[in-house]
Amino acid sequence: MKKLIIGNWKMALGYEESLRLAENLVLSQPYKPLSAEVAVCPSFVALPSVANILEGTAIFWGAQDATQFEPGPVTGGTSLESLVELDCRYVILGHSERRQLFGETDELVRDKLRATLERTNLIPVVCVGETLAEREAGRAEETVLGQLKAILTSIVMPADHRVVLAYEPIWAIGTGKTSTPEQAEAMHSFIRQFLGTLGFNGVRILYGGSVKPENAGKLLSRPNIDGLLVGGASLSASSFWSIVFA
Ligand code: PGA
Repeated sequence: MKKLIIGNWKMALGYEESLRLAENLVLSQPYKPLSAEVAVCPSFVALPSVANILEGTAIFWGAQDATQFEPGPVTGGTSLESLVELDCRYVILGHSERRQLFGETDELVRDKLRATLERTNLIPVVCVGETLAEREAGRAEETVLGQLKAILTSIVMPADHRVVLAYEPIWAIGTGKTSTPEQAEAMHSFIRQFLGTLGFNGVRILYGGSVKPENAGKLLSRPNIDGLLVGGASLSASSFWSIVFA
């Protein structure tokens, strides 16, 4: 299966900056066959215009979040249906920044996942990961398992098994500290085993947390690392393409 590389632009860029980055990505795409699937997730504000720029190129696009509510009286919300209208392919759910800054819980992430699978054909990218304290206490696997159980156990996996999981250790996000390929591979294989017990076999598992052109190749060479979710290093077209072609 193709590796999947997703750039998460978070709230780092303004509207104009987002358009410029999308244009740069298109203009600077190396003339080499693309063996990975590539997508970027701009802010909601920039999403429609970035989608216009990327239409017809090899780069897919997605959103960084959505509400689980159906379109209606939900002030400030963004519906899954509106993302479908914009031809989004992906929607990131349960990113640790959503959990930490907006109080999102596993139960909310589960509701969002269920809504995504029941009402749309979007590909959800569900994020899990432990804190530094949990890793140092030897509870990394237990934490991730708890998150997976809470989010996935009541979910009916669609026949195409399109759910993507992203393992993002919180201590590695935006810190420059990256999980070693061995640590990441061990967690991915643990996650894959658990998914197997639920019968979720085709699920892709991405790694995220301080991915850079320098470490991307080693991470991607591991058998259970199906791709990368890239934050900071996706904000420059050249570093993003270096990761894609690592
Ligand atoms: P980072 O972010 O690459 O800047 O560490 C990754 C993420 O949060 O998805």
